[in-house]
Amino acid sequence: MSKAAITGIHGYVPDYVLTNAELERMVDTSDEWITTRTGIKERHILKGEGMGSSHMGAKAVAGLLEKLNIRPAEVDLLICATTTPDYVFPCTANLICDMVGIRNVGSFDIQAACSGFLYALTIGTQFIETGKYKKVVVVGADKMSAITDYTDRTTCVLFGDGAGAVMLEPNDEGVGILDSIIKSDGIGQNHLFQKAGGSRYPPTHETVEKRWHYVYQDGPAVFKFAVKNMADVSAEIMERNQLSGNDVAWLVPHQANKRIIDATANRMGIEPDKVMMNIHKYGNTTAATIPLCLFDYESKLKKGDNLVLAAFGGGFTWGAAYVKWAY
Ligand code: ACO
Repeated sequence: MSKAAITGIHGYVPDYVLTNAELERMVDTSDEWITTRTGIKERHILKGEGMGSSHMGAKAVAGLLEKLNIRPAEVDLLICATTTPDYVFPCTANLICDMVGIRNVGSFDIQAACSGFLYALTIGTQFIETGKYKKVVVVGADKMSAITDYTDRTTCVLFGDGAGAVMLEPNDEGVGILDSIIKSDGIGQNHLFQKAGGSRYPPTHETVEKRWHYVYQDGPAVFKFAVKNMADVSAEIMERNQLSGNDVAWLVPHQANKRIIDATANRMGIEPDKVMMNIHKYGNTTAATIPLCLFDYESKLKKGDNLVLAAFGGGFTWGAAYVKWAY
């Protein structure tokens, strides 16, 4: 059976940079607090009326196709992981396909909060491994600024906007996505969520007044689960693939908090210089963090490198993937 290999990666972040200094002028916070508690220095924000996650996803996909010299007509399937879809429907994957000229193929969204990209990657992999498709695009795109309350200092310092996309193609050389684990537990549903805007609490004056259309997070509760579960699932995937810390060339963690990343790396026995980190530049871009990491570190990756991807997010959802880099 062929494996699904990542054969290309591209990322996109919007131009506007929201710095810690600017946040200091908006809420009662400090660069010192944000830096020491989270590792974040700045994040990119998508400005402009009518601009959504799809616009960033389309930039990432268009760049990916151009880089790989693949025509839109050659793509068999596009999956978009997002928690901030442009609309309730149609899905953001449909919109991205339209923007880049991919027509008459399946496209759908995956919603697993910050683990969305790992979920989508796992699903895309199945279509390659079964032999059904030859070119699957997996996108992670989130405009977190659309659901961030810029009067709430406990959340507004954390999030940013961005997108990343990978191409999956069959490979028979022993490289590619060799294993993945996805998990969830509804125990987290009240610790991290956007209460209104769905079918339980459709938008009303009251939901707007109560600020229920913004991210709510009980930070310390989520922190405890994130540290434990991201480390556990990373250890699990390493054990079942007989990988020690020394075998891993790169840990590619979801970028929610530098302290969570450091704790995960420590548990896995991975040195800090083997941990992909760009949270200082982008903050938490939800489904885009992992592809943006791969994009930023692409030039450092070598064929055959062992990568462990790991994520944790709302739900709760979490997961890990073992990837042998293909180029
Ligand atoms: N600036 C200054 N002070 C602040 C700020 C701020 N921006 N935010 C909170 N504080 C204060 C709090 O009010 C509190 O003050 P108090 O002691 O007087 O009550 C103090 O700082 C400590 O607050 P905590 O919330 O306990 O701080 P903590 O160290 O837990 O850090 C954080 C908060 C960064 C949110 C952390 O809990 C975290 O990273 N949680 C997990 C995030 C995560 O992994 N989310 C999952 C992915 S996101 C998704 O799926 C969409």
